[in-house]
Amino acid sequence: MVENHNFLEEDLIDRKHKNIEAIFDAIPIGLLLIDETLTISRVNNAIHKLLKKDYSEIINKNIGEVFNCSTTTTERTKCGFGHKCRNCPLIKNIKKVFKTSQSVHEFEFQSDTYFFGNPTKLCFLMNIEPVIIEDKRYAVVCLDDITEKKFAAEKLIETMELKTQFVSTVSHELRTPLTAIKEGINIVLDGMAGRVKKKQKKFLELAKRNVDRLSMLINDVLDFQKLESGRMKFDPALNNVSQIVREAADTMKLFADKHKVKLSVSLAADIGEAMLDRNHIIQVLTNLLSNAIKFTPEKGKVLLEAVRQNDEIVITVSDTGMGMPKDDLPKIFERFYRVRRPGKEIAGTGLGLPIVAQIINQHSGRIIVDSKLNKGTTFTVYLPVSPEKNEPDISVDQTIENAFIG
Ligand SMILES: Nc1ncnc2c1ncn2[C@@H]1O[C@H](COP(=O)(O)OP(=O)(O)OP(=O)(O)O)[C@@H](O)[C@H]1O
Ligand SMILES: [Mg+2]
Repeated sequence: MVENHNFLEEDLIDRKHKNIEAIFDAIPIGLLLIDETLTISRVNNAIHKLLKKDYSEIINKNIGEVFNCSTTTTERTKCGFGHKCRNCPLIKNIKKVFKTSQSVHEFEFQSDTYFFGNPTKLCFLMNIEPVIIEDKRYAVVCLDDITEKKFAAEKLIETMELKTQFVSTVSHELRTPLTAIKEGINIVLDGMAGRVKKKQKKFLELAKRNVDRLSMLINDVLDFQKLESGRMKFDPALNNVSQIVREAADTMKLFADKHKVKLSVSLAADIGEAMLDRNHIIQVLTNLLSNAIKFTPEKGKVLLEAVRQNDEIVITVSDTGMGMPKDDLPKIFERFYRVRRPGKEIAGTGLGLPIVAQIINQHSGRIIVDSKLNKGTTFTVYLPVSPEKNEPDISVDQTIENAFIG
């Protein structure tokens, strides 16, 4: 009876053992059990596959030897004792774990010396845990081969850079001939190349408008790329806020008149100065004003207001125009996003607001939009008086009728 009981217990332990072994082997990350002499006691299938070696060539062998370490192979030194071993990521970290009994987490390294003779450098993410098995100290080394992921990420970055470079080059190359076309049209329109008939003038003016639109688009693409890649230079200086706001309004006055929209400005007397990049803030305000004007029907109103609230300058651009549906609000700061208005399409590229958001972000500020369809829209820009104090906030929060971005 006792014998039978022992037999059952042994069988149970044996089955448990086999289950653990099966799980150990099924783990797709390489696992190695290493003792203090840097000798391998156990590996799972993932290591076996990675090394393409038999278990007899791995178990009870030294880690450097098993991993074809160039120091061990060429200098014939024992693993861990060569002059280069002090800088070896594997040995250094395993020794650290034995010395401190603390784990090593997410250590990334490239196999410079290991896999000697292998033409491609392998990349690993390593974790090491100290363990005690039957009173003996071991280190469980987990090696995740991230070579492919790493290459894919590098390739993606390279492709993105190439794309950016291509778009920049094409845009630059387009700008020069476009300037020449514009000048040519102006000369003919001004009558400097002979008398221009009424009908000819009409077509030339149409051409001029389109050339202007094209050069604006090219400038926006170039600006956006520079801002996105961090190549845009910012020169923040102590600036008089009223002057900046007035200059933006003056720039847009003609545009408002053309659209028969009333543009008003309201400035708080105590607004004072703030650390801003003057030209870029004017670019933000002219973009917001241009939107407010073009999306407001004739006889509508646009108001540009600026006040100081504690350590912030608060500028609002509000209009009595078309407004936007609630669902579009969080998306309007995405590049090329435009609200669909079937039958009422208004020209644009959808780069204005992404540029605005990037510039505000560079100033550690934020922008909020509040809009009601067919009633109007208000954009509120918050700019810290001294940007160093605030961290940039780029969250997008969808409250009922507000979208925040900064
Ligand atoms: N004041 C506003 N009133 C109504 N809709 C607006 C207003 N401002 C922005 N929008 C909507 O947000 C979209 C994105 O604006 P954005 O300025 O990025 O692009 P755009 O004005 O269409 O083109 P671009 O500025 O590049 O010439 C616009 O197409 C428009 O649908
Ligand atoms: Mg715009």
